Amino acid sequence: MIKGKKSLTLITGATSGIGLELARRLINTDDLVVIGRKEAHEVYAMLSDNIQYIQTDIANPVQAVDVVIAGLEKLDIQAIDRVIHCAGVGVYTSPDQETSEQIGHNVSVNLLFPVLLTKALASHVETAKGKVVLIGSVAHKGSPNMASYAASKAGLAGFARSLEAEWRDRIDVQVIHPGPTLTPMLEKAGYKVGKEGRFFLSPEAMAEEIIKVMATNKKSATIFIGAKIKSLFRRKQSA
Ligand SMILES: NC(=O)c1ccc[n+]([C@@H]2O[C@H](COP(=O)([O-])OP(=O)(O)OC[C@H]3O[C@@H](n4cnc5c(N)ncnc54)[C@H](OP(=O)(O)O)[C@@H]3O)[C@@H](O)[C@H]2O)c1
Repeated sequence: MIKGKKSLTLITGATSGIGLELARRLINTDDLVVIGRKEAHEVYAMLSDNIQYIQTDIANPVQAVDVVIAGLEKLDIQAIDRVIHCAGVGVYTSPDQETSEQIGHNVSVNLLFPVLLTKALASHVETAKGKVVLIGSVAHKGSPNMASYAASKAGLAGFARSLEAEWRDRIDVQVIHPGPTLTPMLEKAGYKVGKEGRFFLSPEAMAEEIIKVMATNKKSATIFIGAKIKSLFRRKQSA
């Protein structure tokens, strides 16, 4: 571990959007191991040379998990305080139009890889008495034009609930569901932001909120501007 750093965090999806903003904040306190598909020099330029980087495409989940485990062995890392699964993809289209390839890709990146990697890293996290953080989505409850995305995020929520029961005394598991956030994902998914974009959080603000939630013992949390307005309203009513 780098001198002065308190803990070691492994993070996926730290090369864009919310994950990048999370990594930019965590780098001040944590040793970071970043998992991504970009070239190493691009990632060091975005974050710092002072991180560890393991390059792999998680759309091939089984091979990617092997690459991560081999990379950690090479780095001589046996204990991980926090694993943050933030990588994600989506396609904004009707379920009738979504191709089998797109569905398989969504489910591989958003669900299969986090499930396989969490299992593979259980002993690392247990050794550190650490925590697994799964970044879900408010869409896990079902959302128009996001059928396989919603299914993959609902899968993460179910996975987290199961682990919470199975690993209760061994490993903390937290699932955090962000609401709409102005990141490159929207355009990549084919979603055109209209006036409703005024109510979307910036990736910086979302990362700040996620860091606050990660510091709590909550097993599940939703970060959504609508939820905030509701809770303010409730507080006002009960005052
Ligand atoms: N934006 C929203 O409105 C919103 C709302 C709710 C939940 N979320 C969730 O928040 C998380 C972050 O999303 P974001 O909006 O920040 O998206 P983003 O800006 O598109 O970032 C997605 C990240 O996932 C990585 N990734 C995607 N496919 C990969 C692959 N095959 N192999 C390795 N890495 C891969 C990307 O790597 P590259 O840089 O190489 O592409 C990038 O680092 C996701 O889990 C998403 O589902 C987002």
